[in-house]
Amino acid sequence: MKKTAMLLSAICLTATVFSGCARTSDIPDNPKNQQSSSEAAGSMKWWQKINAYEIYVNSFQDSDGNGYGDLNGIRSRLDYLSSLGVGAIWLTPVYDSPMEDNGYDVADYYSINHRYGTMEDMDALIKEADEKGIKVVMDLVFNHTSDRNEWFKRSSENRDNEYSDWYIWRDPKADGSEPNNWRSIFGGSAWTWNEKRQQYYLHTFASSQPDLNWENPDVRNALYDVANFWIDKGAGGFRMDAIPYIKKPSGFSDGPVDDSEGRSDIHKMTVNTDGILDYLREFKEKVCVGHDIFTVGEANGVSPDDLKYWVGDNGVFDMIFEFNHMNLEFDGAETWCKAGSFELSDLKKALTESQKATASNGWYPIYFENHDKPRSINHYFTEGSDPVLAGKALGTVLLTLRGTPFIYQGEELGLTNVSWDSIDDYNDLNSKSQYNIAIKEGFSEEEALDFVHRFSRDNARTPMQWDGSENSGFTTGTPWLPLNGNYKEVNAELESEDKSSVLSWYRRLSGFRRGNDILIKGEYNELLNDNKDIYAFERKYSSARLVILVNFSNKDADFDTEGAGISDDKEKILFSNYGDNEGKEARSIKNLRPLEAIIIGE
Ligand code: GLC
Repeated sequence: MKKTAMLLSAICLTATVFSGCARTSDIPDNPKNQQSSSEAAGSMKWWQKINAYEIYVNSFQDSDGNGYGDLNGIRSRLDYLSSLGVGAIWLTPVYDSPMEDNGYDVADYYSINHRYGTMEDMDALIKEADEKGIKVVMDLVFNHTSDRNEWFKRSSENRDNEYSDWYIWRDPKADGSEPNNWRSIFGGSAWTWNEKRQQYYLHTFASSQPDLNWENPDVRNALYDVANFWIDKGAGGFRMDAIPYIKKPSGFSDGPVDDSEGRSDIHKMTVNTDGILDYLREFKEKVCVGHDIFTVGEANGVSPDDLKYWVGDNGVFDMIFEFNHMNLEFDGAETWCKAGSFELSDLKKALTESQKATASNGWYPIYFENHDKPRSINHYFTEGSDPVLAGKALGTVLLTLRGTPFIYQGEELGLTNVSWDSIDDYNDLNSKSQYNIAIKEGFSEEEALDFVHRFSRDNARTPMQWDGSENSGFTTGTPWLPLNGNYKEVNAELESEDKSSVLSWYRRLSGFRRGNDILIKGEYNELLNDNKDIYAFERKYSSARLVILVNFSNKDADFDTEGAGISDDKEKILFSNYGDNEGKEARSIKNLRPLEAIIIGE
């Protein structure tokens, strides 16, 4: 507590670095659309008009040859980000950390991980990004800390000190076993024994990530201090990690057994426990109110029906990342070996529900990738799909739905999954856990590795592919994780020169979206709902509209032109990922080619 308060006041006294938090972005609108946008989109917040971009810091750009991406590396790539219409970069955690979960195990919220640079580098990044109209969004990991955090070290010393109640400690059951049967999200018991205290502590994730006790007001205030410290530094917003788990149910009772070890998924037992919104309202009041920042909560398990409590004027965040369209094959299960499959109709339903739920209340962060999920080309398209067409097809949806698009690094290049030979080649601790869970559940080693190939978080964590040189321009040293073997053919340099690349497509569509009232402000209506291959929707603003049609299948797909409301001879194909039919009259088309994506408008 004392350390936190002292640090905060020291920063407040030297508050000359307050730069980004109270200003509106001045990102220029697409000049073509400027006239209409200034009146209509003018009333919107800066973060509703931009593209956001997630940077997995370990893998973006190394500047000092240590094999890990870093802050100065990001500084050197700001122009690249601007070329994609990026107005906010969400950095995965950059704080001091033992890196057992690559930064999601924070040892000190007030210092920068030495692998990534220094606090001076961070200040420089915030300032330089701000000058280019890019805000830096910090990842607040507030459900848990690292077990190497001073708070936890003190808490685990004994049952009677200032920090004793900062984590969730419980006595064993009478037979000495864990307090209940909850299984952590990364596998194994959610409780770990501590010799000194002769008690168990709870961890939703790995045992090195003990959960904080949000019931304790000192803990909450210390976390608000952290967030305010970063606002004072100039952060433009926060991504709130694993936020639906912060409140635990009071009973800590056993859950229904769902595995062969007699355990019960902790997610189901603790997600969105009643009372959680009281804490988050307090966070909003003590941190966010009065600052021109945005918040986006990582809220796996919030249904579209509940969105109204989470976002919007009466909600707690500006946006939440819900997972309804990301976890379609899991049907509530968290373990990879329980995954099933899904149809395009499931994806259409999930996206439309979220679009509707945020139509008049709150705002939607559009995303198909992040550092915890496989690459979207592998996730949403059948094996063997042309990655360039598929990457552009999904990019079309990403950049035309209603909300703020969050591009994940490499998605704009059409990067795809990796498939390494052995589980030992993987770095991600969850991949190793899920592999072991599959083996325990009776799958063969080969089958267990297949689950890892399909879902490993390392799929999206391989280093960024900048050019065709050794290690793709990511590092001059040894990369912390091997690159995807296709980097000589798929990289930003080549794609910048190629007008038909995924990157060029993202740049074109981002330019079109910027300042475009229909895409930024217009309403969303799904079209051709019964079509099994095509996802179609219109965006409508005033009397103007755009129609977006995307064939997710690998075959020609027919559609009913009139069903999509296309009858006007003024409507033309404005964009096509095949490129050969742009400018054509829209009502003349009766089908889409494999993976074809088009945008129709006047
Ligand atoms: C979030 C992060 C993930 C991390 C976990 C534990 O889901 O996105 O990467 O492992 O929380 O902090």
